[in-house]
Amino acid sequence: MRLSVVGCGYLGAVHAAAMASIGHEVVGIDVDERKIAALSKGEAPFFEPGLQEILTEGIASGRLSFTTDMAAAQGAAVHFVGVGTPQQAGGYAADLTYVDAAIDGLLPFLAEGDIVAGKSTVPVGTAARLAPRVSERGATLVWNPEFLREGWAVQDTIDPDRLVAGVPSDDGAPTAEGERAAEILREVYHPSVAKGTPFIVTDYATAELVKVSANAFLATKISFINAMAEIAEVTGADVTTLADAIGHDARIGRRFLGAGIGFGGGCLPKDIRAFSARAEELGRGESVAFLREIDAINLRRRDRAVELATTALDGSVFDKKIAVLGAAFKPHSDDIRDSPALDVAVRLHGLGARVTLTDPAAIDNARRLHPQLTYDSDLDATLRDADAVIVVTEWDEYRRHLSPEHAASLARGRVVIDGRNCLDPAAWRAAGWTYYGMGRP
Ligand code: UDX
Repeated sequence: MRLSVVGCGYLGAVHAAAMASIGHEVVGIDVDERKIAALSKGEAPFFEPGLQEILTEGIASGRLSFTTDMAAAQGAAVHFVGVGTPQQAGGYAADLTYVDAAIDGLLPFLAEGDIVAGKSTVPVGTAARLAPRVSERGATLVWNPEFLREGWAVQDTIDPDRLVAGVPSDDGAPTAEGERAAEILREVYHPSVAKGTPFIVTDYATAELVKVSANAFLATKISFINAMAEIAEVTGADVTTLADAIGHDARIGRRFLGAGIGFGGGCLPKDIRAFSARAEELGRGESVAFLREIDAINLRRRDRAVELATTALDGSVFDKKIAVLGAAFKPHSDDIRDSPALDVAVRLHGLGARVTLTDPAAIDNARRLHPQLTYDSDLDATLRDADAVIVVTEWDEYRRHLSPEHAASLARGRVVIDGRNCLDPAAWRAAGWTYYGMGRP
């Protein structure tokens, strides 16, 4: 099929390349000329495993192209919209400027029967608001949320856990137009659908809510275990063992029970805030009031990491050399948006510590945002003469491959703070380190 993808950021670029890789003819469209120039040359604009390969392949096959010209969308049967919905400046609500602009920009190039498939994460009610504009052109709007995780984006796009299509509905059932739109989307995702991936057809509001409630649930799981970490900290309990034990209950499950410095990134923090703001607008603020608490618990974990460093360094980090391992909001990513790791580094620097930060992928991005910090791409150089080491992103480089004996041969101090509970405390202690975990004795 011929597809267009409007917005070539994280979501859009991956979606365009992934759709080409399953055989579609795809044009990716974005207003950012530099991004389009890079993508057209087959260069991934950010670090994402597997993306480079499918970009190169797609372009070489002639099925994938990129342009800044919206007119190139003409002739595509399905137009995906994957632009950003950032947190509004000075508020919690989502900024929908880019979504509105993308839809309006597409309108002149839509033909009768085209499908416009929104993928961006939007406040519930957005699709219903936009649908009449699309209908006026004889096209149909569907909302088809994206659940990709950074670091697994290609795999999550090609082989998702589930597909959700919010279509025009009446009294809880798809209209004939809605049925047709769902059928076309099934065709787009044919390889996945044929494999038995659940394909859920629903109304706009449910589709929009599936996305934000999934993220709210994940954030809740993380803050729940971090709340238990806070209790563990005053009782001498070990939150890691606790998570293992409760995680054996299949109703709870062990995933997303990793206590540490909490969640960050371009999605979870802003999505739960936008959800709160939207619920307030709908007069149901109290229904998701707990999300404010989830956010607060999450932010407190960063304070805790700084507090641990201060305690470990005899009450002050001032003028102490601290090796900060990690800047990305999670491993396998160069993304530093709302990164707890970087925030902890900046706070330590603010308290007068001599911070040297290393990361396998995110140094350039971090340096651009926080030029005041010292960066070193070399792990050994970062560790050399450090008074304390703090791990804030659980890259394999630190978790698996950094031996405590080797670290001890470089550092001056013997204090290690494990902000992600990803190190083996026994091994570090055996090598002479004083180990501090998050919610661990
Ligand atoms: C998330 C959702 O997982 C994805 O489905 C959605 O489409 C977009 O938002 P992503 O932002 O890529 O994806 O990251 P994710 O893997 O969910 O991690 C989010 C944050 O939570 C990271 O900062 C991570 O370090 C943290 N986290 C995750 C924990 O602190 N503990 C855990 O147990 C798991």
